[in-house]
Amino acid sequence: MSPTLLQEVSDDHHGLAGAKNASYAHSDPLSEIPTLSGVDISADGSTPIIDMEALLGPHRSDAIKQIGLACERKWVFAVKNHGIPEMKIDNMLDTAREFFHLPEEERLKFRSADPDSVIRLVTGFQDKTRNVFVSRQSLKFHCHPVEEYKSHWPSNPPSFRENVGEYCESVRKVEVAILEAISESLDLERDYIDKLLKGHYVSINYYPACQESELDVTHGVRTHTDPTLITILMQDDVPGLQVINDDKWINVNPIPNAVVVHVGDILQAISNYKYKSLLHQAIVNCEKERVSIASYCYPSDDAMIGPAKKLIDKVHPAIYKDFTYREFHESMWRVKCSTAKRLDLFKPSSD
Ligand code: OGA
Ligand code: NI
Repeated sequence: MSPTLLQEVSDDHHGLAGAKNASYAHSDPLSEIPTLSGVDISADGSTPIIDMEALLGPHRSDAIKQIGLACERKWVFAVKNHGIPEMKIDNMLDTAREFFHLPEEERLKFRSADPDSVIRLVTGFQDKTRNVFVSRQSLKFHCHPVEEYKSHWPSNPPSFRENVGEYCESVRKVEVAILEAISESLDLERDYIDKLLKGHYVSINYYPACQESELDVTHGVRTHTDPTLITILMQDDVPGLQVINDDKWINVNPIPNAVVVHVGDILQAISNYKYKSLLHQAIVNCEKERVSIASYCYPSDDAMIGPAKKLIDKVHPAIYKDFTYREFHESMWRVKCSTAKRLDLFKPSSD
């Protein structure tokens, strides 16, 4: 079985033709917030920045504490000195742009209605019931081990397989190291989460520059949480990512060569709701196209992703039942929900 995919509910079966014909407007991110009221856009600056080099030195326990606090209070942090060479990042972003600049028929070769296919292109679409246009196009694919999946990836642009393969291998190492730190921050064994892991998945996101129009509202990606342990997001230099923080939307603007890491639904469950899955969205820019690379490790089908036993006691009763990644994945496609509320199915009271 393949992993759950980073996507909004119902962003699947819409062609690029719709994207081409839609008129764009300023995005209206606030209309999609599921549970919060009275929000406003705040300036960037409150996202913690973790220096990953500290995890390798004598100050490891301090860095772990910082990561734990970031997961508990902000649900998101940026990571610098992660060890992915700048050149590999630049190559990845260039390749992503080149792919999305290819003629439509070339890209459409990767279109698939099967959410479990090893690679698929997801296109922008109009949500007519809400009169919104969701402009993100993305190429989503498995990448671990790279050699197993490479032959399914585009051979155009010619640099794709090499550049993407190198980025994927590097980013996986970063994720494994961060998950070790997160396990320790929860007072679990260092490899508690790593032991659950199986594959790795990447979504290359492309947000075309939009034109203005009074008619439609355009979103990059509407408010959602990711069905992941953690997501590692590499952004180019165009802002667009917004996250919820203290009931406000915060712009998480790109920091050169840093990655954004945020909590996903599965970590919310494993941590017994100590760490919360981050509500986030992407807005579009009317002058510049934007590229981001989201990636995540996913557990094996039988991995138990309910709350870690060690985190359950009288004061902290289990918020979720035990459940496997397979059960989570299968429920993803049944419950049409794009936030961590999809975990409610696994609450003890939901029998
Ligand atoms: C995603 C996502 C945000 C961005 O891929 O799940 O939320 O800024 N991307 O591209
Ligand atoms: Ni996301």
